[in-house]
Amino acid sequence: MFLEPNCSLKNLSEAVLQLSNFFIDHPRDQTPWNESYCKLAYRHYYFPLNYIRNQRVIEQGQTVGFFNHLEHTVDWGAGPGTASLALKNNLHLKSQLLIEKSTTALSAFKDIYEQLQNPTMTSVLDLKKITTDKSKTLLTLSYSLTEMTELPLGWDKFEALMIVEPSTRDDGRKLLHVRQKLIDAGYSIWAPCLHQLRCPLLLHSKSDWCHDRIHVQAPDWFKKLEEHMPFRNNTVTTSYLLARKQKPTFNTKNKIRMTGDSLEEKGKTRQLVCRNESREFLTWMHKENEPQTIPRGDVIDLPENHELKSNEIRVKKI
Ligand SMILES: C[S@@+](CC[C@H](N)C(=O)[O-])C[C@H]1O[C@@H](n2cnc3c(N)ncnc32)[C@H](O)[C@@H]1O
Repeated sequence: MFLEPNCSLKNLSEAVLQLSNFFIDHPRDQTPWNESYCKLAYRHYYFPLNYIRNQRVIEQGQTVGFFNHLEHTVDWGAGPGTASLALKNNLHLKSQLLIEKSTTALSAFKDIYEQLQNPTMTSVLDLKKITTDKSKTLLTLSYSLTEMTELPLGWDKFEALMIVEPSTRDDGRKLLHVRQKLIDAGYSIWAPCLHQLRCPLLLHSKSDWCHDRIHVQAPDWFKKLEEHMPFRNNTVTTSYLLARKQKPTFNTKNKIRMTGDSLEEKGKTRQLVCRNESREFLTWMHKENEPQTIPRGDVIDLPENHELKSNEIRVKKI
């Protein structure tokens, strides 16, 4: 789906580095769409990466029936329409609205918008003007809340929200506060959370945040591009929330979500997990059994044979 760029990989890698430096130096600033390096780097690098992130989030939502009965999408801060395209490629939709502050972005990515389901594009930043039935509409923000101070006015009229954000500590923890705000407003979190209690990462830590790690198989041209750059994307991370006014229908009994990477310690291997507001680790004692490494973000069954020891769920030999 993502075409090999028709410029040299060297030019492209310079543009990517320039935009990457911009995002690092000005994390709260608007994407500089008026710069030609930005359009080039976004189309061939950030757009595919963010598409992969949105695809992952959509798959997580589909496993719990999150998108059932939703017919329309509104993509706030749409840029090239990354989230909209991933949604269109996975769901049966009737219409898609893209809201984007930058008219330069709106005219730069028309070829991508053409692939969407009955798309409308606007630079008018007003959710009140939306005419679709909000009880069947998903409001999505993909990597746009990071450039804003608040959710857009009127967000709470929508049945469903999908928010995808950079997995940095600042954005990730900001998203945990947004999670609580949504719950306080009557929404239920369908993913990544298995519960509606307070988030243990916010409650018991000043530095942790929740994010998934996606293992990707990049096309050859992308690997060659990365040879020109000081960073690699063997795995892609993202932080997200899927929230609905409707209560979740899936069964979370004896399920846990892996919220940390595997940690080797003396005599044991452990991974942070989430199932309620406690900060707990799934733990393999080396003298008892062979440790596993489970991808961050995955939901698994609580091992039947386990023992609770302090903040550890210790896997017992069967
Ligand atoms: C990093 S880009 C993300 C683009 C796209 N959603 C994606 O996931 O690839 C952030 C976008 O949000 C837009 N944006 C920033 N602040 C906004 C606001 N207050 N209202 C609407 N769009 C905004 C920017 O113009 C930019 O296109």
